[in-house]
Amino acid sequence: MPSKPGLIEVVGTEPAFHLRADGVSYLFRVTRHGHLEHVHFGPALGHLEAAADYEPLVVKQASGHSGVTYTESDPGYCLDYVPQEVSGLGKGDYRLPSVEVRLPDGGTTTDLRYVGHTLHEGVVPCQDGLPTAIAEPGQAATLEVRLADGDLELTLFYTVFAAANTVTRRTVLTNNGAGPVAIRRLMSQQVDLPDRGFDLVTFDGAWAAETHRHVRAVGRGIYINSSATGFSSNRHNPGVLLARRGAGEDHGEVYGFNLVYSGNHYTAVELSHREQVRVQSGINPVGFDWTLGSGERFETPEAVLSYSSDGFNGLSANLHAFVGDHIVRGEWADRPRPVLLNSWEAVSFDINERNLIAMARQGKRLGVELFVLDDGWFGDRNDDRAGLGDWDVNPKKLPDGLGGLASKVRDLGLDFGLWVEPEMVNPDSKLYREHPDWAIQLPGREPSLGRHQLVLDLTRPEIRDHIVAELSTVLDSAPISYVKWDSNRTFSDLYSTACPAGELPHRYVLGLYDVLRRVFGPRPQILLESCASGGNRFDLGMLCFSPQVWASDCTDPIERLAIQLGLSYLYPPSTIGAHVTASPSEQTLRATPLSTRFNVAAIGVLGYELDPRSLTPSE
Ligand code: GLA
Repeated sequence: MPSKPGLIEVVGTEPAFHLRADGVSYLFRVTRHGHLEHVHFGPALGHLEAAADYEPLVVKQASGHSGVTYTESDPGYCLDYVPQEVSGLGKGDYRLPSVEVRLPDGGTTTDLRYVGHTLHEGVVPCQDGLPTAIAEPGQAATLEVRLADGDLELTLFYTVFAAANTVTRRTVLTNNGAGPVAIRRLMSQQVDLPDRGFDLVTFDGAWAAETHRHVRAVGRGIYINSSATGFSSNRHNPGVLLARRGAGEDHGEVYGFNLVYSGNHYTAVELSHREQVRVQSGINPVGFDWTLGSGERFETPEAVLSYSSDGFNGLSANLHAFVGDHIVRGEWADRPRPVLLNSWEAVSFDINERNLIAMARQGKRLGVELFVLDDGWFGDRNDDRAGLGDWDVNPKKLPDGLGGLASKVRDLGLDFGLWVEPEMVNPDSKLYREHPDWAIQLPGREPSLGRHQLVLDLTRPEIRDHIVAELSTVLDSAPISYVKWDSNRTFSDLYSTACPAGELPHRYVLGLYDVLRRVFGPRPQILLESCASGGNRFDLGMLCFSPQVWASDCTDPIERLAIQLGLSYLYPPSTIGAHVTASPSEQTLRATPLSTRFNVAAIGVLGYELDPRSLTPSE
């Protein structure tokens, strides 16, 4: 196939594939035995005409080695030494495989080799319901490379986003055989970089202490950054950096990796015996066990890879451009966000219309643009032990309903927003009493609760339909221009009547995306802010639906400095929800001046979460 000029060059007859972003090149080639050999990911290489133009970059293989020779006819060819774009088990590469399956005959060996490729303009969206990056005409191009081994067909999608200096990758596995194939591990991307002395930077934390930056040298062996909670998690954000030792804010080489996914993620960094650094990312193989029936396909989430030689700032500029231009979408993507006043830290569950209106009125005087009613407005919700699942307004608290409250707020000149937590149910709720089997729990066993609640089984279509219908009624009952979508516990007791436990976490995430699409697709005017006990799901998957994310339940500005600094490496300020709250901080008891609280919140999407009536005249 002739090469298409522009963002993707097909070089020579082997062939090699050259992805060309504005300042970055990504290059790999088909080897003489059909494997995909990684050649270069780094500074732009310029136009390549033939194999001779990139030959100096190819890792040279010694003819003598102690490894397993791929074929006796080619003694120097050993897969353990070849930098590879994809790797299976059982043919002499002993590093982490990116594909691990159990074949119908019980075998686990795979040898995936090049079959063909196709070039596409722009992006190629995922077919299976996962959100993927978007692009305007001319901003991106996609390379599809097909490999096969017997009845297994593996397709790799590479999309280059020129101005963001970013490449995304994902993998599709198809079973063309008659019997079922068990997928044990299927990475979205794998890259083998020459070791240049790297530090691995991760963003780790806990509830109310998310995304603290941690740095360690990449040494021999394997380091894994992952989540098994069902969420992308506050423990380890899916985004990681690989920085050449000595890189600073504005100089030095830095790679960035992230995943467009909100579930169990995994990134492994392996420094091998031959000074190659293998980086893989995808769905966490722990607890993952997927049966691919005859004729079925499985598509992984999209992985994001970026590079800069201008240090951490250069890399962050790439990632911010990528998130801003290719992840966040919809009517609110580029619009200034309203300054909001949220009721939670001011009144908690203690809601009554008179107080809310008084807060909103005072907020308006201080310049607030949007009043957000947080938890406590529905069902028997007087604390966190009851009510989740019952999305009817509590008439004792709001006698005129949401519509009445919203119109009074709007009469003050403010927009109105609402908190919901639709994925969850309290055992003490009407919904649970009617449908105990809708919650994820093991039959006949006492379930483990988190915040006194259970997770609804979003793998089941009838449960998703119920949530969509309930929320549609709520959102259409009042002029609501903003929604805070919360989710306050992680997974346990995995069981579903719809699928095996090894498929549940991924099918859940697909179910969540389906619900978000159906609720907010028809209501593009609503600004969505996602939240999961603060930053328990701050990831590129949720950012495809919600332009901003509540970054943490800790609003102490000093703790927030660490949290927001960590996030800022991976995500632009326009995605980071940050509020001015009362002092001393509810979470840390630290007292800080209003100016400190304001300055830190103003770095992100500014809001307030205090009772404005409690401020002194000078404040
Ligand atoms: C979570 C959120 C908070 C607040 C409460 C309400 O903890 O992160 O911002 O909405 O739930 O219950």
